[in-house]
Amino acid sequence: MAKTTPSRTALKIARFMVLLDAMPHLRDVLPTGAAATVERILLSSQALPARQVEGMRSPATIRFAHLSERLLGQGQLVWFGLRKRWMAEQVEAAIAAGARQLLVLGAGFDPLAAMVAARHPEVLCLELDAPQTAEPKRTGILRAGLARANHQVITADLSRQSLAEALSRSPWNPELRSILVAEGLLMYLKPAEVKGFFNAARALTGTGSRIAFSSVGADEHGNPRLGVLDRPIRFALRLAGEPMHWGIRPADVPAFLGHLGFRALAQPTPDSLRERHLAPLGLPDEPLRPYEHLVLAEDVRVESA
Ligand SMILES: C[S@@+](CC[C@H](N)C(=O)[O-])C[C@H]1O[C@@H](n2cnc3c(N)ncnc32)[C@H](O)[C@@H]1O
Repeated sequence: MAKTTPSRTALKIARFMVLLDAMPHLRDVLPTGAAATVERILLSSQALPARQVEGMRSPATIRFAHLSERLLGQGQLVWFGLRKRWMAEQVEAAIAAGARQLLVLGAGFDPLAAMVAARHPEVLCLELDAPQTAEPKRTGILRAGLARANHQVITADLSRQSLAEALSRSPWNPELRSILVAEGLLMYLKPAEVKGFFNAARALTGTGSRIAFSSVGADEHGNPRLGVLDRPIRFALRLAGEPMHWGIRPADVPAFLGHLGFRALAQPTPDSLRERHLAPLGLPDEPLRPYEHLVLAEDVRVESA
């Protein structure tokens, strides 16, 4: 039976953004304005009771978060903030390099597309998710007064519908240089769907387009693996109805992308992320426990253009 409730992992990440914003030493890790915007979207969407959203800022929730991290490993919460900051930075860099379209896939309740649409009226900003998540998100954006002419929320389940089909109902122009974001998404797709996504991304974008994505690692058989707390997290995801299907080791990314017509422009390590994003905030020694790695891929057609 098809799911009817919004993605639990998407709601969890959105609530973590509000929680991070309530922690004075970590709040600046998130892109400026992201927590306030996601909070407005969550409250207006009514995807969660208001008390659950507002409760993320309560001293009891913050104490509980500190305790959980002490027990389960410090640096997991800040990872979500850092991942958001890195993705937002890749989008800004791509726009500065000429991208005129943004597509956020598996967007959940993330405010990125709405915020970029407000900042860059010249950029078409689309975001896509399965209907049970995209519909409340769309309602939330409308009711929060965040709707813009250059921003659309598209409903599509990529395991049932191709990306080309999903975009055919939108103003997306396959000739334009674009930036695609797949944050916390690809692990939920089957391996063939992941390849299909990269092929579609290439066919549906102009020369020099980029994809910023996160991925979990993999074991020697290519099964997705998380490193920290691998088994309990995979078990919890299965229970939440969002099992993982795909992962890749960082070292295997360049060859994987090469076969699909892309090259890896950036693969930041935890140390480089800490140095670039946490040290300037006065957090050079902040524990960081990524359960994924980040990749910026670029269409190789740029080299022969
Ligand atoms: C872990 S959440 C990440 C949400 C958001 N990208 C973020 O980082 O805050 C995964 C998202 O991918 C979406 N998703 C998973 N499988 C999908 C599919 N087959 N088609 C469309 N969206 C999908 C889920 O609905 C969910 O919103």
